[in-house]
Amino acid sequence: VKSGAPSAANSGPLLQRVGGLDVVKKVVELFYRKLYADPHLIKFLHDQDIVHLRAKQSQFVSWLFGPPGTPYTGKSVRIAHLRIIKQRGFSPEDFDLGMKYFDEAMKELGAPEVIRGEVMRRMTPFKDAFFTPSAGDTAEEA
Ligand code: HEM
Repeated sequence: VKSGAPSAANSGPLLQRVGGLDVVKKVVELFYRKLYADPHLIKFLHDQDIVHLRAKQSQFVSWLFGPPGTPYTGKSVRIAHLRIIKQRGFSPEDFDLGMKYFDEAMKELGAPEVIRGEVMRRMTPFKDAFFTPSAGDTAEEA
């Protein structure tokens, strides 16, 4: 045996480890409250359809907390955010702020450190995807 017996906090799908779908829903809810309460981020959000946004984000968060090793098959996050990047100057710092709120939401809802770290590691690569110009940009802008 290489290490100790698996415990709820260090093995298996993140969803189970974090406490199931209920906890994830609460994380998303709190995350949204934090985003919308931020006087700077609100300029990217005030005119968005929140129902649509939540539906999209829920898919993403389900993936985020899903089984390890599952590839992301959702829409390009660059394309999803291209309008706010190009027209409203959404920046890497704004992305970091969003990640910070997500981490805070998990923390406030009692997610263990190890899980928060793992989720943050899974989110981080999307930062490059957001801000690296891609072939799809022009099609989307046209
Ligand atoms: C979708 C804004 C942070 C991942 C969206 C959309 C908006 C938005 C407006 C909807 C696009 C549409 O109409 O379809 C923001 C703002 C953020 C933020 C203001 C502030 C920090 C993040 C972060 C991530 C993320 C940190 C993940 C790393 C996504 C995903 C979608 C989405 C996966 C849905 C893509 C799709 O399937 O269409 N976001 N976002 N967002 N966002 Fe964000």
